[in-house]
Amino acid sequence: MNHIFTAMDISIRKQRETDCACDALILPFVENERERYADLHPSLAALIGRVFGREFRAQKNESLLVPAPPEIKPQRIFFIGLGKKGDLSPERVRQAGGKSGTSLREVRMNDIALSTTLLRAHGLSEADFLEGLLLGTYRFRKYASEKKTSEIARCTVLAQPSTDLRTKVNWIRTLSSSVHFARDLVNTPANDMTPSDLARAACSLRTSRLRVTILDEKDAKGLGMGSYLSVARGSDQPPRFIILEYRGSKGKPIVLIGKSVTFDSGGISLKPADGMEKMKYDMAGGAAVLGVMRAISLAQLPVHVIGILPATENLPGGSASRPGDVVRSLNGKTIEIISTDAEGRMTIADAIAFALRYKPRAIIDIATLTGACAIAFGHCAIAMMGNRRELLDAVKRAGEQTQETVWEMPLAEDCAEYLKSDVADLKNTGGKSGALLTSAYFLSQFVGDTPWVHLDIAGTAWAERERPYIPKGASGIGVRLLATLVRDFAR
Ligand code: BES
Ligand code: MN
Ligand code: ZN
Repeated sequence: MNHIFTAMDISIRKQRETDCACDALILPFVENERERYADLHPSLAALIGRVFGREFRAQKNESLLVPAPPEIKPQRIFFIGLGKKGDLSPERVRQAGGKSGTSLREVRMNDIALSTTLLRAHGLSEADFLEGLLLGTYRFRKYASEKKTSEIARCTVLAQPSTDLRTKVNWIRTLSSSVHFARDLVNTPANDMTPSDLARAACSLRTSRLRVTILDEKDAKGLGMGSYLSVARGSDQPPRFIILEYRGSKGKPIVLIGKSVTFDSGGISLKPADGMEKMKYDMAGGAAVLGVMRAISLAQLPVHVIGILPATENLPGGSASRPGDVVRSLNGKTIEIISTDAEGRMTIADAIAFALRYKPRAIIDIATLTGACAIAFGHCAIAMMGNRRELLDAVKRAGEQTQETVWEMPLAEDCAEYLKSDVADLKNTGGKSGALLTSAYFLSQFVGDTPWVHLDIAGTAWAERERPYIPKGASGIGVRLLATLVRDFAR
C-alpha cells in the first residue's frame, strides 16, 4: 500500500533569527507583548512596531505573513498568535503550530524556520509546536488525480542542539507519522480497506521485534470465536483476526484491542442510507492500534505490547446473521443477537476472551462503538469505562497530556437487566436507552478480573470540520493517547 507521509526535514540549529535565510521565519507572539524580539535587528523591531496592535494582535491562532525588511536574511515574517499570557499551554502551542503549517503550505513556503525565543521565555516547548505543525499538514491525496501539491520541505528550529531536544523531536516525528499512517488507513474507502488490506497494513510493520500473525476464518472457527464470526457471515470478504506482538521487554503484556469493522452497513438491521458512506471509519480503533504499534516499535520502547484487530465487514449478504440468532463466544457465553448493527461488541468480546490467554497486565480496547457516544460527546471527548482506578487514571492523564481528552462514564451494574435474554446468557443490545453504558457493560462480561479500560471513539475518530491540527476526515485519535500511555508505563 502506498502511504503518503509528509516527509518534512527538521533540523535544529543555533542561529540568530535575522541571520537565517528561509522563505518564512515564524515568530510566535503573546498578546500585549511586542518587545520580545526588539533587540534582534532595528529593522525587524520597526516592522513589529508597525504591525503589532494593528494588523496583528497575537490572539490565539491569529496569523499574518509579511515581507521581511531587506536588511535581514529571512524573506518573510510569519506572525503567529498564542493568545493571552494566562492561557498559555502545550495545546495552545500545538494549535499555533498547526495553524502555521497549514497557512504557510497554502502560500507555498518551502523552507521555513521557527524562532524559539518567546516559547523558551514562557517555558513552552518547540516540540509541541512541531507536533502541531506535523499533524496539521496531513492531507489525504491517494485518490486525487492532481498529485502535485506544495509541501513544506524543510523546517529549521532555531535553538541550541541538545540530546534532550533531539530525543523529543524524534518522538514527535515518530508519533505524528504514525498518526498519519492511521489516518490514511481510516480515510481509505472500504473497497480498498478490506480485512485483508488491513492485515497487509499490519504485516508492513513487521520487524525482528514485532511479530504479526493473521488468523483466517478457519482458524477462528477452530478456536471457537462464534461471536466474532457471526459478524463476518454476511460479507464475501473473508475476516482476518490480526495479532501483533511487540517484545521490547519481558514480563506480562499490555493488550490493545481495536475495533476493525472495515465497513458497517448494520447488516440485516440495516442502517439508514443517509451518511452510511462514513461507516468506512468503523475500523478507526484498529487503525489507532496499528499506529501505536508502529510508534512504539520505531521508538524501540522497552515495553511488551500486543495489538489485536478482529477485522471483518458487516454486510447483509445471504448468509448474514439474523436478529434472534444465538451464537457462542470464545469464552463459552451464548449471545442472542437482537441487532446485527451492534456488531462491534461481538467482535471485541471474542478478542477480549482471546487476549486473556496472554495473562495481560491490562487490556485496553478502543472502538467506534456507539452512536450514543457521538451524540453525547461529539468530537470533544472519548468516553471511557473500566474496572481499575489506577488504569483509568493513567489513561486520563495521557488524555490530558495529548489533549485526546477522555471522560469517564460509569460501568454500571444496573445495566445487567438491559442485557438479560430469555434464550441466551446475554443479549447483544439493551436498546437505545443507556446505549453507551450498556455497550461497555456487555464487554465487561468478557474481561473477568483483568484490569481493563474501554474507549469509545465514535465521536472523535472522524472530524466533520477542520481544526488547527486535525484536518477534515480521519483524526487518527488514539495513537497519541495510547502511545503516550504505553511510554509512561515503561518509565
Ligand atoms: N459503528 C456503529 C456506531 C457508530 C455510529 C459509530 C455512528 C460512529 C458513528 C455501531 O456498530 C453501531 O451501529 N451501534 C449501534 C448500537 C445499537 C444497535 C445498540 C448504535 O449506536 O446505533
Ligand atoms: Mn453497527
Ligand atoms: Zn459498527
